[in-house]
Amino acid sequence: MASNLTLTILKPDCVRKGITGEVTKRIQEAGFKIKAMKMTRLTKQTAGGFYEVHRERPFFGELTDFMSSGPCVPMLLEKENAVADFRKLIGATDPAEAEEGTIRKAFADSKGENIVHGSDSDENALIEASYFFSQAEIVANEV
Ligand code: CMP
Repeated sequence: MASNLTLTILKPDCVRKGITGEVTKRIQEAGFKIKAMKMTRLTKQTAGGFYEVHRERPFFGELTDFMSSGPCVPMLLEKENAVADFRKLIGATDPAEAEEGTIRKAFADSKGENIVHGSDSDENALIEASYFFSQAEIVANEV
C-alpha cells in the first residue's frame, strides 16, 4: 500500500536564489500537506549518508559538495500518491529534459543544481524522512 508520504529537500541553490517561499507555494497549491519542515545545513559527511545509494557514482563528490554548500529545507509531504505526483510536479532530474510547468523547468540550472529532491519510492520516503525528522517533529493531525 502506498504510504502517501514523500520527502523533499529544497536544495542550497533554492535557498540561495531566495525562492523557498515560491517553491513551497507551488508544492502546497499542488495539494501536498507539509507534515514536517526545518532549515538545516548538511555536512559533506551527512550529505553522503543521505545519498548513500549514489556513493559509487562519478558525481558523488560533486553532489555532496553542493548539498553541503549552504542551508537547505527538508520537508515531509503528504498527499495521495505522493511519491509519483511529487516527481511529476518537480520534473526530470535534468532541467533541460523537464516538462514545461514543472519546478525544475522553471528554476533549475543543471542536473546537479536542480532546486529540489524528491523521494523515488515509498520505502525510501520513510528512510529519508527518518534522516531529518524525529517522530516528535512530524505533525500527527490535520492542521
Ligand atoms: P536528487 O533527486 O536529489 O537525487 C540524486 C541527485 O544526484 C539528483 O537529484 C541530482 O541532483 C544529482 N545528479 C544526478 N546525476 C548527476 C550528474 N550527472 N551530475 C551531477 N549531479 C547529478
